[in-house]
Amino acid sequence: MAVETMRAIVQDDYGSAPEEVLRLAEVARPTIGDDEILVHVRAASVDRGTWHIMAGLPYPIRVAGFGLRRPKSLNPGRCLAGTVESVGKKVTEFKPGDEVYGTCEGSFAEYASARAGRLALKPANLSFEQAAAVPISALTALQGVRDQAQVQAGQRVLIIGASGGVGTFAVQIAKAFGAEVTGVSSTAKVDLVRALGADHVVDYTRDDFADGEHRYDAILDTGGNRRLSHLRRALTPRGRLVLVGGETDGRWLGGMDRVLRAKLLSPLVSQKLGTFIGSENAKDLAALRELVEAGKVAPAVDRTYPLSEAPAAIRYLQDGHARGKLVITV
Ligand SMILES: NC(=O)c1ccc[n+]([C@@H]2O[C@H](COP(=O)([O-])OP(=O)(O)OC[C@H]3O[C@@H](n4cnc5c(N)ncnc54)[C@H](OP(=O)(O)O)[C@@H]3O)[C@@H](O)[C@H]2O)c1
Repeated sequence: MAVETMRAIVQDDYGSAPEEVLRLAEVARPTIGDDEILVHVRAASVDRGTWHIMAGLPYPIRVAGFGLRRPKSLNPGRCLAGTVESVGKKVTEFKPGDEVYGTCEGSFAEYASARAGRLALKPANLSFEQAAAVPISALTALQGVRDQAQVQAGQRVLIIGASGGVGTFAVQIAKAFGAEVTGVSSTAKVDLVRALGADHVVDYTRDDFADGEHRYDAILDTGGNRRLSHLRRALTPRGRLVLVGGETDGRWLGGMDRVLRAKLLSPLVSQKLGTFIGSENAKDLAALRELVEAGKVAPAVDRTYPLSEAPAAIRYLQDGHARGKLVITV
């Protein structure tokens, strides 16, 4: 029987320049196991993790399962939205034709195999392009705001990197939880952060969020380049600091040194200093669908690119230009 093929972005080796390591190719469609779902991908999205998985940096992620010498998955995309093409024998949650969104390995392709536990029905009020922008960034924002920072109504919350993938969702989710939200961004993106509903915006090129009277009950840091002492100065005595991530040039540690120091210090001080790895799960995708359908959260999609231009999308993000999310249409 002839093998069915599809167009997909593939890579053979790790490398930090997307236009050098990624190429569009005709490859075999994925096959699915009994507990898997074949999704006809309509859109995918790019985030910082896309670059890290493509580059294999910082090095510890290779040991964490992405492939020691070469990438295990030949396609770095992870977020998708599309329609269910077929389901394995043991899948009861979905049927062919369902419109879904979630995560998988290899979403920069016409078809992808995914697990039921990492998919949910797509928010009805979003296009496939908008829905594809949600999964990893919004799951991280939801878990950061709700579980790590434990944001309550009336609290003051600071989001560093408020104009980014995770940050644009975190601002809206913290607002939906009833917090008074301050976003931190560069000058060119202040208008975006305000439009997302932030009560205050600090332009970090002009002002320091730790100056002045304001102290925050919770800080989510996705910018990654402030010292712990600086962040703690802006926090209330019992406040919670959540280190989500940041792009340092460290090929070995990639910001892990700050995380380790926070973990060591946290038990010794009254503030709670921590970090977490986001969980890709269907329950939280469903929780996000409710927030989106209630009109409380909407993805901020900056640009869309055709599949063949996925490397340009990763480059645009890498160069710090993105305002919110970048989407690949398939
Ligand atoms: N823990 C987890 O499970 C998890 C999950 C997802 C992502 N992450 C990590 O979280 C980080 C953010 O991811 P993302 O996808 O949101 O990236 P992103 O879309 O590139 O957003 C990063 C934001 O950081 C801001 N930033 C850059 N330099 C800054 C500075 N000096 N001061 C303050 N803000 C600055 C940028 O804002 P301006 O352009 O306005 O400067 C940008 O909007 C990445 O390091 C990523 O690897 C962690």
